Amino acid sequence: MAYSGPAFSTTMLEDGVVELRFDLAGESVNKLNQVAVKDFDAATQAIAKDPSVKGVIVTSGKSVFIVGADVTEFGGLFAGGEPAVVQMVSAVTAMLNRFEDLPVPTVAAINGVCLGGGMELVLACDYRVMSSTATVGFPEVKLGIFPGFGGTVRMPRLIGVDNAVEWIAAAGDKKADAAFKDGAVDAVVAPDKLRDAALALVKSAIAGKLDWKAKRAEKLVPVKLNKIEQAMAFESSLAFVGAKAGPNYPAPVLAIKCMQEAAGKGREEALAIEAKYFAKAALTPQASALIGVFLADQIVKKAAGSWAKKSPKEIKLAAVLGAGIMGGGIAYQSASKGTPIIMKDIVSGALDLGMNEAGKLLSKQVERGRMTAEKMSAVLARIRPTLNYGDFKDVDVVIEAVVENPKVKKAVFAEVEGMVRDDTIIASNTSTISISYLAEGLKRPQNFVGMHFFNPVSMMPLVEVIRGKQSSDAAIAGAVSLVQKMGKTPVVVNDCPGFYVNRTLFPYFAGFHLLLRDGADFQAVDKAMERFGWPMGPAYLFDVVGMDTAMHAAAVMAEGFPDRMRPDYASATSVLVDNKRYGQKNNLGYYSYVPDKKGKPKKTPDPQTYELIKGVVAARREFAPDEIVARCMVPMVNEVVRCLEDKIVASPFEADLALIYGLGFPPFRGGACKYVDQMGVANFVALADKYAALGKLYEAPKLLRDMAAAGKKFFG
Ligand SMILES: NC(=O)c1ccc[n+]([C@@H]2O[C@H](COP(=O)([O-])OP(=O)(O)OC[C@H]3O[C@@H](n4cnc5c(N)ncnc54)[C@H](O)[C@@H]3O)[C@@H](O)[C@H]2O)c1
Repeated sequence: MAYSGPAFSTTMLEDGVVELRFDLAGESVNKLNQVAVKDFDAATQAIAKDPSVKGVIVTSGKSVFIVGADVTEFGGLFAGGEPAVVQMVSAVTAMLNRFEDLPVPTVAAINGVCLGGGMELVLACDYRVMSSTATVGFPEVKLGIFPGFGGTVRMPRLIGVDNAVEWIAAAGDKKADAAFKDGAVDAVVAPDKLRDAALALVKSAIAGKLDWKAKRAEKLVPVKLNKIEQAMAFESSLAFVGAKAGPNYPAPVLAIKCMQEAAGKGREEALAIEAKYFAKAALTPQASALIGVFLADQIVKKAAGSWAKKSPKEIKLAAVLGAGIMGGGIAYQSASKGTPIIMKDIVSGALDLGMNEAGKLLSKQVERGRMTAEKMSAVLARIRPTLNYGDFKDVDVVIEAVVENPKVKKAVFAEVEGMVRDDTIIASNTSTISISYLAEGLKRPQNFVGMHFFNPVSMMPLVEVIRGKQSSDAAIAGAVSLVQKMGKTPVVVNDCPGFYVNRTLFPYFAGFHLLLRDGADFQAVDKAMERFGWPMGPAYLFDVVGMDTAMHAAAVMAEGFPDRMRPDYASATSVLVDNKRYGQKNNLGYYSYVPDKKGKPKKTPDPQTYELIKGVVAARREFAPDEIVARCMVPMVNEVVRCLEDKIVASPFEADLALIYGLGFPPFRGGACKYVDQMGVANFVALADKYAALGKLYEAPKLLRDMAAAGKKFFG
């Protein structure tokens, strides 16, 4: 027997052992798409029909084993609703059962990444041998779903309830030693010994030295815990995981409930329960949003990859001007990902601060065992602090991160242009000032772009790469390539004040200011927006960003978009700035701050704030949380849509991902466009209309009205 299909092929090896090899045609990785799943079943049936087969080893023809199911197919598969989802997963689990029921022992040889559906496939084998360099795990809950191809059934029977809950609900990747310790794999060997080890294991089983039938039987029967033990295990994990995940992320809790209900059942009944719960998770709005975020991430990274390939040169040396909050962060990030960087300032004390900050971030990693002291020294050695332009002739990209003042920035550009090569890219990290405007007066405006990092640089995944009127493709490509090297996600956007992310943030802030003007309590607004899913409410965010910095940026935005971003009232934030309340930086903002035991600023309500702003706010009145959310979100979403209309951002995918990665937009809502889709475009337009009296920021843009009229959505 020799089977050969688009994904799987079999080869008869010695002593009746068949190698079932997964090598998906036309793809760089193995994934369980529809084609592969069907082919797996055809190969299984071919093996089952051949009486000369005595055992099977499952191998991969790629450097990964199996990355998981094909997420791009989920939309179509889930579109048919609950019966269709149940039918789809049941069909796959039936195939895995047929493999599990082969009358011969089976061994998986896991050579590389083996995740999700891949892990579920190897669980259907009797034994698993793993390369010491491979990783395994169940990342599904990150997508709002959980293992639905038998993972929740086989895992607790194989490694116990507590371990299975941890593997599935925490969604972490497991290295070989951890997988072996938990009993998820039977042996770990060096990569070059993997095939021999798998062969030896299957031969031992064939020879009867291993009781593979008994091992298999454990997966077919109920979990080995009595009712009381089960109740204890499941109830405590439900409480713990439920509290940790929170109400906006239901998948891990559904997974545990599913395991609990199926624990006392045999394989077939347990799998039917899994299918039912899986469909429930798959059809939640959260799953739809999180799957959308995953796909958007892939699309954006692919686009970045194509940009980076167009870069005429490799970026070997970077420089940053300004060693402040942003300059220090940029230097740290570049150095820690391997690109040496010169950090120039005009004040030597600033250089010390920048280096100290980088040192602190690195020391934390050393303390946590994530980095060795040698690596830390090597990273620090890649940052060259300086007060002069000495080595700037060697620099490929200069990132300017001096004060947010166009005059100062322009003077710095004129100076640095004379110090670098003709092909050196010069980028500004300005938060708001138009890149085309900053390029005026430059000798080589084609080499000039924006690179907008977010604070704190080490934590925030997004960098907006801004194309000014005269920026060349080569300059954009070089900037994108550096962002990628720095381990960040670049989104290329067109130029306007605030670019994409800040242009949408300030209307949200305006919504907040209008609420306060009309009598809302800022603490109630924070609470409602945090419930909505933002990591912090707008008042707290002002405190973190710095109110003076934010109001300075707000003035640039007002200048750029006077029809809707220039307020005709004094905002509470401006009054606080006038009273020298700048936020966390001086411990006084909307809230006041006292350092906690670890030195982190602890937020405390401050009656003084109410006193100070009372001249610019109406008498206090209650706003329903829904109204607060609508009044903050409508201006932001409208501006996102205007950015799409104006082609500032190219697609709803990029628009949504940039808000999640740049601002912390709640991932379970999938971004602004997905939020509108889930609410219904016509419903959103009606909501905006309800607040039309509040001004132009609340006016739904034409694109949205047209979409509503045509019954269109952003996605699907
Ligand atoms: N802080 C943020 O949250 C944030 C976020 C995104 C972008 N940005 C932008 O990044 C830029 C820097 O902001 P920051 O918060 O790091 O400012 P900062 O005040 O912390 O640092 C500015 C640094 O620039 C130095 N400097 C001034 N003139 C210089 C010159 N001619 N050459 C070299 N160094 C010079 C100063 O000595 C100071 O160390 C601004 O344009 C800001 O809008 C800031």
